[in-house]
Amino acid sequence: MSSASKGSIGLKVHGLKAEVGGHEVLHGIDLEVGPGEVHVVMGPNGSGKSTLAHSLVGRPGTNVTAGEIRVDDVELTGMASFERARAGLVAVLQQPVEVPGVLLESVLVSALSGTDRELTLEGVRRCMGEEAAAIGLEPAILRRPLNVDLSGGEMKRNEMVQIAALRPKYCVLDEIDSGLDVDALGMVASRLERATGEWGLGVLAITHFERLLVELKADAVHVMVDGRIVRSGGPELAQELEHTGYRPYG
Ligand SMILES: Nc1ncnc2c1ncn2[C@@H]1O[C@H](COP(=O)(O)OP(=O)(O)OP(=O)(O)O)[C@@H](O)[C@H]1O
Ligand SMILES: [Mg+2]
Repeated sequence: MSSASKGSIGLKVHGLKAEVGGHEVLHGIDLEVGPGEVHVVMGPNGSGKSTLAHSLVGRPGTNVTAGEIRVDDVELTGMASFERARAGLVAVLQQPVEVPGVLLESVLVSALSGTDRELTLEGVRRCMGEEAAAIGLEPAILRRPLNVDLSGGEMKRNEMVQIAALRPKYCVLDEIDSGLDVDALGMVASRLERATGEWGLGVLAITHFERLLVELKADAVHVMVDGRIVRSGGPELAQELEHTGYRPYG
């Protein structure tokens, strides 16, 4: 489908440039993720993948200097992270922030209040319980302060519960597979795949490994090198990269 016929619906990134620590890391990124689509970004260490995730969700310290980030025609550049979440874009970051003293259930109740998915505390707890079961997460883990004293894999699964409860239009996942054991990886990937149909979740998944894509079916794979998308293709591109590495792009 041409972008014109899709109208304004989608997560649309155009000409995105961003700097970190006064140094330009992203040199003009174009990406479009439609509802229910799964796009994957792969690339060598230090190529700017996390900087892309940080730019999309407005993480302080990452400066967007040019370009557009739109969700269904709402421009997100300049908005705070919670406003972007309200507009429909949330992220699972490579290094989540620990928030001592705050419980996930209260974060979810306030994040959903005033939206068309407003839930009571009871409703949030029920939803969290169901979602934890779907990905094999011990429900007691959800009673701990946000991201405090969680193992790497527990933290990623905790974030998956947040996504499933919040039901954003689009999510950015920065290495959600890192730290997950093989069973957890399969459950998280298949929960994401189900979400693409259930509420049309559009996924932008950053990963180093093709195994994430066994259960989660990619529509497109993009290769990022030195802050640019240098190649895009179908899921077979992820398989190819497993064999070739990034030398052909150096
Ligand atoms: N606070 C900072 N100050 C200066 N440079 C930074 C800062 N944070 C990141 N960078 C640099 O920006 C570049 C891109 O980093 P980024 O974390 O986006 O890479 P990545 O593709 O996610 O890598 P990985 O695969 O290792 O996660 C790197 O060269 C990194 O050293
Ligand atoms: Mg990274």
